[in-house]
Amino acid sequence: YTAQIDASDLEKGTYPYYMLKEIDEQPAVMRNIVQKYQNEDGRLTVPEDLVAAMLDADRIHIVACGTSYHSGWVGKHYLEKIAQIPTEVHVASEFSYNPPLLTGKPFFIFLSQSGETADSRQVLVKAREWGYPALTITNVAGSTLSREADYTLLLHAGPEIAVASTKAYTAQIAVLAVLSDALGAKLGHDMGIDMVHELGIVANAMESIITQKELIAELADIYLPNTRNAFYIGRGLDYFVSMEAALKLKEISYIQTEGFAAGELKHGTIALIEEGTPVLAIITQADVASHTRGNVEEVRSRGANTCVFAMEGLANENDQIVLPAVHPALAPLLTVVPTQLMAYYATLHRGYDVDKPRNLAKSVTVE
Ligand code: AGP
Repeated sequence: YTAQIDASDLEKGTYPYYMLKEIDEQPAVMRNIVQKYQNEDGRLTVPEDLVAAMLDADRIHIVACGTSYHSGWVGKHYLEKIAQIPTEVHVASEFSYNPPLLTGKPFFIFLSQSGETADSRQVLVKAREWGYPALTITNVAGSTLSREADYTLLLHAGPEIAVASTKAYTAQIAVLAVLSDALGAKLGHDMGIDMVHELGIVANAMESIITQKELIAELADIYLPNTRNAFYIGRGLDYFVSMEAALKLKEISYIQTEGFAAGELKHGTIALIEEGTPVLAIITQADVASHTRGNVEEVRSRGANTCVFAMEGLANENDQIVLPAVHPALAPLLTVVPTQLMAYYATLHRGYDVDKPRNLAKSVTVE
């Protein structure tokens, strides 16, 4: 497959690659989502009929692939914590269709930037056959997954051309936060934050990271220049971002990277750590920060070359990147940005085509 870059190639303007342009567009996408989901009272919300349909469900199945699967895990966190609906996240091609998954009143959420991913569509076709309600969260209005679902929420992220998804990931998380907050509000326990204000802070914080490209390019050169493998580690929301950070790095730089639960390393995988293995740690959640720091120590004492991305207030003086403080629940929106840039610069340093990595297509429309 080759990514079809059409006439909109001209829109790259001064950017060397679409991926860099799309990383830089993320603050504007946050502000656009605020604008598109704001109701007349100034609250961010989603259509009433969708809220009603989801609150009538007793379980949610999030079905997606790749980057969209990773944002699904953050969505699970929100939906369970705020809307308090048990939620499972499934790799579309592994959806098991086993009867126990379908007892009660399941509600399906399909996350898909393109809205055309065949693996995800196969599950949607079955969900409809069974008569279960489905929401598609997508960047493409009128896409197959949107047309065939009962409900659609758009990402309003603008065309995403680079094969490696960036702004669609953060847009999916922002929309999932708005959705969960709207559900919670109906139940009398929303996120308890001013979502408009907090997403505005996230957009500003993203901008401050985006101005540190030189620092991040240097870190990529220090930690990733000749390595064959690398790890991103974290706990909770930081683990979910580690999954995405790893996919970004491996799919364009071809460095074999794992996003790993920091606490799970000692159960086997730490055997892979040797002198100089790059381990990039994400620390933004106060309740698990000290545990993750312990895991960083564990790998560093076994020779790993550790690089820490920590949120202000949890950072210490020898951390490589200190992230501006944002609401902890929305931290994934910010934390992913330096990891997207790490992947971009690691790939540039290796001389590969950032926008058109080998073997990959922008939308996988075959099973
Ligand atoms: C992510 O960078 C990849 N391009 C790929 O994993 C992608 O996320 C996956 O194929 C799902 O695509 P979709 O969101 O359009 O369904």
